[in-house]
Amino acid sequence: MRIEFNKKLLFLAPLSNFSDTGFRILSRRFGADLTYTGMISSYEIVNKNSIPFEILDEERPIAIQIFGNEPHIIEKTVKILGTIPDIIDLNFGCPSKSILESGNGGFLLLDLKKIKDLIKSAVYNSKVHVSVKIRSGYNKHNLNYLEIGKICEEEGVFFLTIHPRTVEMKYSGKVDLNITKELNRNLKIPIVHSGDIFNIVDLEKVLNETNCDGVMIGRGAIGNPWIFLDFKNYLFEGKIPQKKSLEKKIEIIIEHMEILLEHYTENYTIKQMKIHIPKYLKGYPGISRLNKLLNGVKSINELKNLLFNFRKL
Ligand SMILES: Cc1cc2nc3c(=O)[nH]c(=O)nc-3n(C[C@H](O)[C@H](O)[C@H](O)COP(=O)(O)O)c2cc1C
Repeated sequence: MRIEFNKKLLFLAPLSNFSDTGFRILSRRFGADLTYTGMISSYEIVNKNSIPFEILDEERPIAIQIFGNEPHIIEKTVKILGTIPDIIDLNFGCPSKSILESGNGGFLLLDLKKIKDLIKSAVYNSKVHVSVKIRSGYNKHNLNYLEIGKICEEEGVFFLTIHPRTVEMKYSGKVDLNITKELNRNLKIPIVHSGDIFNIVDLEKVLNETNCDGVMIGRGAIGNPWIFLDFKNYLFEGKIPQKKSLEKKIEIIIEHMEILLEHYTENYTIKQMKIHIPKYLKGYPGISRLNKLLNGVKSINELKNLLFNFRKL
């Protein structure tokens, strides 16, 4: 399925642990134009000669995000992926300690030659479009986003996503919208902005100040996948989002759970819902009691009972 940047696009960001099939399908149902898997190791894909999950038609278009630091492994990975995803995304931004220590993710922002070789290998061997996701640089002394943008353009990358914080900043401070704007002004390929979009005020600010081609929503969509519908209604129909009732949220949680149950085991569904439910119900009076009770849940029926009795907790 093709992605076309003919209007402002709204993507569900790659979110390790959260990005399950249920979350992606719900986000699509609410209007996300593209969703991502959390990042997957290229070494793991090559070792297993496959990916550890199935892509459902309803999830498309979907990007599989990979990380790795060896061009020949990236070559093998994209060959194994073939046309399974609609887009293959390369991660050059992850700031987590273990990823940096293994020379992957954001660490690669220190090595432009390696980045170029990895991109080349992916684009040359991939049957689907390749996109790239970066931060603005490793730290404030190494803001090389424009050079990487040029490499992406030269090597045939489809679009570039920028999370305009440095790797060293992790999630502290603010995103620098001038960086997204500068990339957009200097490159011909589409630029997608990722970072700090939680409501329509943030959305409008990012679109107005950067003129980017699309935005990616991460933390703002966790426990809140209807953000895509709210944003689309606002952008294209001028409608102001309304708050969801608790009953409606519980209906959406059940929908999330049922998508997972249809395709995965009860154990996996429970594990994922234990991650998502506290986010969906954040801010309600019963939440700390619910969090305690969730720990002990062992079956879907117990999970449903907890949800239906949430108001009484
Ligand atoms: C829980 C969590 C998991 C994430 N996992 C990934 C990941 O696997 N790959 C990636 O490129 N970014 C990952 N990110 C970063 C997001 O995709 C996004 O760029 C960042 O959170 C900024 O956007 P936001 O302010 O909309 O959350 C993750 C972020 C969070 C909070």
